Amino acid sequence: MAASFQTKLIIILLALGLSGSTTTAQAGYDEPLSLGSEKLTRFRLYLHEIFDGSNATVVFAAHGNATNLVFGTVSVLNDILALGPEASSKVVGRAQALSAIASQTESALTMIMNFAFTDGKFNGSVLTIAGRNNLNLKVRELPIVGGTGAFRYARGYVRTSTVFINQINKTAVAEYNVSVLHY
Ligand SMILES: *[C@@H]1O[C@H](CO)[C@@H](O)[C@H](O)[C@H]1NC(C)=O
Ligand SMILES: *[C@@H]1O[C@H](CO)[C@@H](O)[C@H](O)[C@H]1NC(C)=O
Ligand SMILES: *[C@@H]1O[C@H](CO)[C@@H](O)[C@H](O)[C@H]1NC(C)=O
Ligand SMILES: *[C@@H]1O[C@H](CO)[C@@H](O)[C@H](O)[C@H]1NC(C)=O
Ligand SMILES: *[C@@H]1O[C@H](CO)[C@@H](O)[C@H](O)[C@H]1NC(C)=O
Repeated sequence: MAASFQTKLIIILLALGLSGSTTTAQAGYDEPLSLGSEKLTRFRLYLHEIFDGSNATVVFAAHGNATNLVFGTVSVLNDILALGPEASSKVVGRAQALSAIASQTESALTMIMNFAFTDGKFNGSVLTIAGRNNLNLKVRELPIVGGTGAFRYARGYVRTSTVFINQINKTAVAEYNVSVLHY
């Protein structure tokens, strides 16, 4: 039975792309390559969130003990990433995040967020942001910790502020000024 378990495991690993078939790989180190010059790219994007209703882009995934209603609240976001704050603005991707309220005294989020671009100059690339988003501040700053595609080796920061929260149509928009170093 152990063999059949191992067979299943191999099938799973192959499905995940963890195949050991790259036997041509040599032990040792490649020569270092020059990546060219690093550049600083700045742009502004808007996150559109629908926080209620059947098209909500945020879901509250877990909450802490009821004695403190907000501390420990975990939410998952799949917000729309657009070029402008208007509902009709051109959509360039999604802002997908895992976010937790990690303070008892402030509305401070600990977030890991991916800007997944599906259109425009950075189509197919992902920018990864991880940090503290203290909603008590008008302008918040979070680090850019990496990325893929055009954002390989990325580092930098975003500065964000809330543009509006509308309780009638249950939408909120946040502005993100991105400053990113990449190759
Ligand atoms: C959700 O989105 C669909 C498709 O855009 C739209 O037809 C529907 O009216 C929306 N529902 C709500 C509650 O906004
Ligand atoms: C949740 O709160 C209740 C009431 O204050 C307490 O008895 C319980 O131990 C708490 N549970 C946890 C996991 O903190
Ligand atoms: C919701 O209302 C705000 C403020 O009136 C407006 O700017 C926004 O476009 C509306 N959003 C949608 C999806 O209708
Ligand atoms: C974005 O990239 C995807 C995957 O390569 C491609 O299918 C799609 O057509 C691209 N979209 C635009 C608007 O270029
Ligand atoms: C983003 O940049 C614009 C233009 O410099 C500025 O007006 C705006 O206040 C900035 N927003 C944030 C959140 O830093």
